[in-house]
Amino acid sequence: MEKFIVTAALPYANGPIHIGHIAGAYLPADIFVRYQKLKNNEVVFVCGSDEHGAAITLRAKKEGQTPHKIIEKYHKKNENSFKSLNINFSIYHRTSSKLHHDTAQQFFKALHSKNVFIKKKSNQFFDEEANQFLADRYIKGTCPKCNYEDAYGDQCESCGSTLSPSDLVNPKSTLSGHIPIMKETSHWYLPMQKNEKWLKKWIESGEINGVMVHDPKKWKNNVLGQCKSWIDGGLQSRAMTRDLDWGVKVPLENENGKVLYVWLDAPIGYISATKEWAKNEKKNWEKYWKNPDTKLINFIGKDNIVFHCIIFPIILKEHGDYILPTNVPANEFLNLEGGKISTSRNHAIWIDDYLTSFPEKEDVLRYVLCSISPENKDSDFTWKDFQTRNNSELVAIFGNFVNRVIVLINKYWGGYAPNRSSINKEDDIVLRKICQYPDKIGTYINNYKFRDALFELINLARLGNKYLAENEPWKQVKTNPKRTETILNISLQIVFSLSVLSEPFLPITSKKLCNILNTSFSNWDCAKNSNNIKANHKIKNAEHLFEIITDEKITEEINKLN
Ligand code: 2FM
Ligand code: ZN
Repeated sequence: MEKFIVTAALPYANGPIHIGHIAGAYLPADIFVRYQKLKNNEVVFVCGSDEHGAAITLRAKKEGQTPHKIIEKYHKKNENSFKSLNINFSIYHRTSSKLHHDTAQQFFKALHSKNVFIKKKSNQFFDEEANQFLADRYIKGTCPKCNYEDAYGDQCESCGSTLSPSDLVNPKSTLSGHIPIMKETSHWYLPMQKNEKWLKKWIESGEINGVMVHDPKKWKNNVLGQCKSWIDGGLQSRAMTRDLDWGVKVPLENENGKVLYVWLDAPIGYISATKEWAKNEKKNWEKYWKNPDTKLINFIGKDNIVFHCIIFPIILKEHGDYILPTNVPANEFLNLEGGKISTSRNHAIWIDDYLTSFPEKEDVLRYVLCSISPENKDSDFTWKDFQTRNNSELVAIFGNFVNRVIVLINKYWGGYAPNRSSINKEDDIVLRKICQYPDKIGTYINNYKFRDALFELINLARLGNKYLAENEPWKQVKTNPKRTETILNISLQIVFSLSVLSEPFLPITSKKLCNILNTSFSNWDCAKNSNNIKANHKIKNAEHLFEIITDEKITEEINKLN
């Protein structure tokens, strides 16, 4: 049995969850976790709200609310969005909890007492009106690269460039609208360059202190590429604290008005979430985070790669006792109808809205988002493609196959699984193929190739359809009932395998299939057997798994976006 801590990036509690979030990190993480559990591995799957930083205070200002009200609102809302898509965290924690503040402060203190940090002075933008230093997001100005006038201090949303506040032409404070001044402040810096040697080796070869702790061949190219270009560009000191009055306070005397920056806050949230979970489950969290047998897998989007592959590992290693990530399977970005998903421009599909428009179609969204998952490069969600995948894959291949088998058995065998008396060569090939699917799909999942894994699941249904088409049991039932029994028995085994192997991707569909088959399963590998449903086992009536989505419905959704 293997042991996993699986984390999914803590989303800011400053707005609702959209399809880009789900495709980026949460769905692949959930598929991975469901699979590992079916393989009888032990998994803690942690996530929660990131409730700190300028992301929250800015939103509060925009909504005319206190930051506190904002996090209350979005923490609940987002937790519900994940639940509604059956993303099954062991715990959905929050960084505003006392346990988290204590944990993050202890981390800071542990590093501080080892003299890991350097205190340095620097000049930063300060708003004299509002009497506060300005976080990058509080400064707007003209992008030096594309002349867009509303670029943020850290990024231009128009051309996508990463910026620093001093790059902006005509910088203005978003608090007062005034031109900020430069003022001296001091912060605690992490000298990352000191860690360059072991870090490079650890990432590139998987080795640390002579021990292999991960397999770099399993790391995704997009992730390795970003790490390499960062390391090759030379690591620098980075400030781990900020001047802000919202967040985890720097736990030292005379550091008023300073909080821990996201790097020393959010990923520590994975640890505090595990602590809270362990408390509830009467387990020992250290047996996960401080145990070299545990595999730590961080699911994130590409904007957090450097954070999780360089900064977080340095923090963990400097602390000492902790394991480092085994893998950081980051996805690229999902676009929408050819454009960037944008919260501020409301160019997004929010999970709540989706489920209002398509009630009970959770699995359809999971299916489509997994099929187009931005695993190696950015990908695009379009409503037309959503419709096609639903109608010509889920309905026409998966649903159609299951329906034909169940209807025929109910019609001609009164709902009792027929016997298989004589197996011919062709049947034998099909039976052998069925048994290969669990490993085929499982290997893809273990290598974070969720699109390929899902494609194989549909291939299993395709195999079933082909078998039916070639044998035409609906014709043979009159002329050759014995042969028909065998064909339907084998088809029923495929339906059973689909019920097992669809679980990580389509958990509701998997449950429905179990209900129709009047059976259950507890592990993945049972699908390696091709005689799970015995002759005379009573099944139930067919029920609808998927239904056609009409052109009108799709036009409606496209119009909403415009
Ligand atoms: O970038 C973000 O969305 C932040 N909330 C950090 C996410 S990663 C983390 F949780 F470590
Ligand atoms: Zn720009």
